[in-house]
Amino acid sequence: MHKISEPLATRHSQILGVGDYRPSRIVPNLEIVDLIDSSDEWIRERSGIESRRYASADESVVDMSVAAGQKALTAAGITAAQLSAVIVATVTYPFQTPSAATDVTLRLGNPNAAAFDISAACAGFCYGVGMASDMVRTHSAEYVLLIGVEKLSDFTDPTDRGTAFIFADGAGAIVIGPSDRPKIAPMIWGSDATAREAIVMQPSWLELRNPDGLANSGNIGWPDIKMQGQTVFRWAVYQMAPIGLKAIEAAGITVDQLDVFIPHQANIRIIDAMAKAMKLPEGITIARDVRVSGNTSAASIPLAMAALYDSGEVKSGQLALLIGFGAGLVYAAQVVELP
Ligand code: UT7
Repeated sequence: MHKISEPLATRHSQILGVGDYRPSRIVPNLEIVDLIDSSDEWIRERSGIESRRYASADESVVDMSVAAGQKALTAAGITAAQLSAVIVATVTYPFQTPSAATDVTLRLGNPNAAAFDISAACAGFCYGVGMASDMVRTHSAEYVLLIGVEKLSDFTDPTDRGTAFIFADGAGAIVIGPSDRPKIAPMIWGSDATAREAIVMQPSWLELRNPDGLANSGNIGWPDIKMQGQTVFRWAVYQMAPIGLKAIEAAGITVDQLDVFIPHQANIRIIDAMAKAMKLPEGITIARDVRVSGNTSAASIPLAMAALYDSGEVKSGQLALLIGFGAGLVYAAQVVELP
């Protein structure tokens, strides 16, 4: 019997570059409030959101991905031809197949890279970091482009008080490649699937095709996100801090050695509560991009990371804790050394 030959020894991985794309249209709270009987003050106080970006009608998930991806490639000093794989984390690409990633890699000029999408909602980017890192470490890939992208304005009901002011659009991307020492720590990930009904996109396409059998009342024209806000809020505040601490431990560092905290940008109160629960050190840099970007699900962490570079708040070599959590309910966290 033949045996598979000894695999190449595992190697280390790193983030090589970051890129973002923010749609040009800024939507302040005042543009949202009338349809949901709300106010600028309420939205700021309960979520921290002051404004968000909406893509235009002809600006697609793939358009935003390509723009962010190109910036990340330039920052990494890598060409599209060098990519072994393109991964797109999204829940708002409006086709089940083929994947957004195949169109992205085609448009970047590399029609032969491995390409697939991840459906892990607001945890999708961190799932992707772990997967891309392991692909590089085990020689399944040399360079991987990972994009988190959403056009949530397409799937949000502007009259839903619980979601209309939260969700928004944008794309963020990173390139992951080999490293001479560890710069991406192990991923801590999992789910609490018993709460999978807490955030849903409904109705399903089958229900839309057969509206007589519609299981969910209300909207039969288009799938929108529905969220049990308080359930998700409590889960995030109480369950995610221990996950962040496990990720710090898995990196072989202590909380005091962390420089930056870049959590999923869902709500400023969740961000602050998590930082407090983990007892993050005074003076640590905390991403609060949600204020001007809203909640962009899979795009929120790379967008927040890019914003920290733009504002000069972070520098190369710093250690950052990333943590994504959302619909599923699913989560993933890891410590990375910033490029
Ligand atoms: O990215 C995926 C993960 N998603 C999240 O992490 C989101 C988690 N959830 C949240 O961030 C928060 O639950 C929200 C920001 C969505 C809502 O904040 P909240 O503090 O949980 O508000 P609430 O639902 O408990 O509502 C409080 C009050 C209620 O009034 P009463 O019953 O206290 O009189 C609501 O009727 O606020 C009222 N309310 C609103 N008022 C003005 C609910 N929505 C609105 C609104 N504008 N849009």
